[in-house]
Amino acid sequence: MDALHVARAGLKACATSLGVVLVVGTAPAAQSPGQPGVTFTKDVAPIFQKSCQNCHRPGSIAPMSLINYEDARPWARSIKTRVEMRQMPPWHVDRTVGIRRFKDDPSLSDKEIATLSAWVDAGAPRGNPADMPPPRVFEDADRWHIGKPDLIVAMPKEFVVKPEAADWWGIFTADSGLKEDRYIKAVEAKPSPGARRVVHHSVESLVYDDGTSGGGTLVEYAVGKNGDIFPEGSGKLMKAGAKVRFNMHYHAVGEPITDRTEVGIVFYPKGVVPKHVITTILSPNQDDLDIPAGADNVRSDAYFKMDKPSHLVGFMPHMHNRGKRQCLEAIYPDMHVEQLNCVNYDFNWQIVYNYADDVAPLLPAGTIMHVISWHDNSAANKYNPDPRNWVGFGNRTTDDMSRHWLTFYPMTDEEFKAEVAERKARSKTSTAAQ
Ligand code: HEC
Repeated sequence: MDALHVARAGLKACATSLGVVLVVGTAPAAQSPGQPGVTFTKDVAPIFQKSCQNCHRPGSIAPMSLINYEDARPWARSIKTRVEMRQMPPWHVDRTVGIRRFKDDPSLSDKEIATLSAWVDAGAPRGNPADMPPPRVFEDADRWHIGKPDLIVAMPKEFVVKPEAADWWGIFTADSGLKEDRYIKAVEAKPSPGARRVVHHSVESLVYDDGTSGGGTLVEYAVGKNGDIFPEGSGKLMKAGAKVRFNMHYHAVGEPITDRTEVGIVFYPKGVVPKHVITTILSPNQDDLDIPAGADNVRSDAYFKMDKPSHLVGFMPHMHNRGKRQCLEAIYPDMHVEQLNCVNYDFNWQIVYNYADDVAPLLPAGTIMHVISWHDNSAANKYNPDPRNWVGFGNRTTDDMSRHWLTFYPMTDEEFKAEVAERKARSKTSTAAQ
């Protein structure tokens, strides 16, 4: 336990200096002398190429392209609002509390946000066409957050969601074609391009001919989801002959839409057996929702006990249209409570937050994971289907949920002690270096 506290103290020290940077970086007086004559071609296009165009280009998932000046100019105001509120690029973990470092964090730096704002405030000028960087070339693999998959398994056939239909749940099973046992390093599920709006969720698992299943969830997708990336030395086992089971939930949107969801998998090299095996669970016991009509900030609480010492790899909140905020805290066996993270929830973006390895929570056996959710059933919530209704737990998109996915690997007591000691040693070195 002491080791954990030491590690956290290190984190807090870091956080304080981060806070200072933030204030300086966003103060208008500080930014203007550093950023005279911000233009699209020189300053803005490189940021869009790096952080926006993967989604904001023709044929990808965003509603408009941000490739050329002509495409982007009409959206200037909206761009300023969305980046200042940190709604774009989508990454909604609250940066002011808890753990701050994650893998594949796409968010903009404070300086980049200041640059975009300065550009909009200056009237969104084009600048010198000669400053324009060469266009970014996108590869097929850019569709995947996890990098180029070694194996892609698709649903065995397409499913057409009719324009008007009740929510539909069903199961499809596909052969993976895998001929030998392999360990999974990263995994991501993706609906067909254009079908993102109708796939409420898909939950994938591994099944075998002898009727057994592959232990926990393989991966789950809900709108806007990225991928799961496991720490070096940990993975999920996929055995030869595995089939992938797609548990789908479709939601009609007024026009016919065809989907064939795929799962992309990155493996460890052949023959490599990682030390730890990853489990993903939907933490249970969170279904007694009672949200009065019109009410805002309706809180619900749920608890889940970690039976074995564990390294928490990542977490993903899941609520529906009225979900507003969700926080995760750890109640350690000595009753010390630590807030791990909060997410300002947006139903459009189901994001898994994968911790950077050296700050991932190390949880002793018996730690209680406490999930606190807030719902907004008022008319002020623009996603609310009908603020006049009481809402409870339910599977339909118009019902609500306060769920939470946890990805972790369990350890023996000895392994846990060793990992805590290693963390403590490393945090001492980095504190000394500061
Ligand atoms: C992971 C994909 C993705 C990335 C990366 C992304 N966007 Fe978006 N963006 C979307 C989608 C999808 C929408 C529409 C749904 C929504 O509003 O959440 C959207 C909406 C927007 C809107 C609102 C448009 C409107 O209707 O007013 C703006 C502005 C925007 N994005 C700007 C940006 C900027 C600027 C960046 C980069 C700094 C960026 N986005 C990065 C996918 C993305």
